[in-house]
Amino acid sequence: MKIKKPIEKAINAQIQLELASAYAYLSMAAYFDRHAFSGFAHWMRLQQNEENEHAMRFFNYLHDRDGRVELQPLEKPPHEFKSPLDVFEQSLENERTVTASIHRLYELAQKEKDHATVSMLKWFVDEQVEEEKSALDMVDKLKLAGDHPGALLLIDREAGARSDG
Ligand code: FEO
Repeated sequence: MKIKKPIEKAINAQIQLELASAYAYLSMAAYFDRHAFSGFAHWMRLQQNEENEHAMRFFNYLHDRDGRVELQPLEKPPHEFKSPLDVFEQSLENERTVTASIHRLYELAQKEKDHATVSMLKWFVDEQVEEEKSALDMVDKLKLAGDHPGALLLIDREAGARSDG
């Protein structure tokens, strides 16, 4: 069954949000590279890859449903931050925005009785729990570290060992 227009439009907006997230995380990776936090930069690169994969899941899904992908413009992402904690707080905020958007899309699909889209979105509902958790873990650790350079470097090294994404 061909996808309905309101859902097609909402999925195109979600593709834009996922790509904007990828763009923001790439900008955060650049900030960390500039400040010699190579572990955090690595973490952000992996996160950027994940966001591109999310966008492509929606992209491919629209095609599978005979829908039309219409890419939207991306704004310039933030590129100056106060500290590593500031970066991860912004990334957590971004994930919460994405979660809210996925939930709205889910409710729209239910309202339109589009069972295939509801089913596809279940993966994203679960994924967002993980996405928020991994950003929150970093925020919690960085809050504990405060301004101690030794603790910051330890968390940076730990972030550099991230292998998923
Ligand atoms: Fe694609 Fe991090 O949500």
